[in-house]
Amino acid sequence: MNWQETYDAFHEATRALAAALGYRDLMTRLHSERVRGLCSEIGRHCDLEEEEMEALGLSASFHDIGKIGVPDNILFKPARLEEDERKVMQRHAEIGEKIMLATELGGCELAATLIRHHHEHYDGTGYPDGLLGEAIPICSRIISIADSYDAMAVTRPYHQAKKHEEIMAVLTEETGKKHDPRLMSVFREIMGRSRYTVD
Ligand SMILES: [Fe+2]
Repeated sequence: MNWQETYDAFHEATRALAAALGYRDLMTRLHSERVRGLCSEIGRHCDLEEEEMEALGLSASFHDIGKIGVPDNILFKPARLEEDERKVMQRHAEIGEKIMLATELGGCELAATLIRHHHEHYDGTGYPDGLLGEAIPICSRIISIADSYDAMAVTRPYHQAKKHEEIMAVLTEETGKKHDPRLMSVFREIMGRSRYTVD
């Protein structure tokens, strides 16, 4: 398979994945599209290699694809999750990794790894592997920040949308715990003029 064929195949496969996710959970699909946009702005500021930028775009688009494997009563629960329900929900990171690997397309291994680690925390308290600091792939650390920002920017069944300043205050509080301090300073700079910045 030449480069063009690989690219076309990836495009076809990921379009089907995006459509599948959209039918299961439209809110997650729309959220994923904004996270992808935010991630590419952050990635460009971090001077990532072309290959990493592609994997970042792909994994950002499908970071929550594993939610396809989460039962409705948990995925759509209009309240905070109980501890056992949270455990089931957390499996979406590993399910997403497996779905991305199942495409068997060139480059899917890297994207799958980035999806697996998008809920790791900088201080090692995240999941599924409890990776610490720089041991978390940089693209997964980027997805984590963009994901957190956008999740707070929209109204969900269990919380109201926050304003930009309120979101940044939460992210600042989480810096060094959930988020990478160096990436957070890049993010702060970007959000001064990003199209994804909310009021
Ligand atoms: Fe997620």
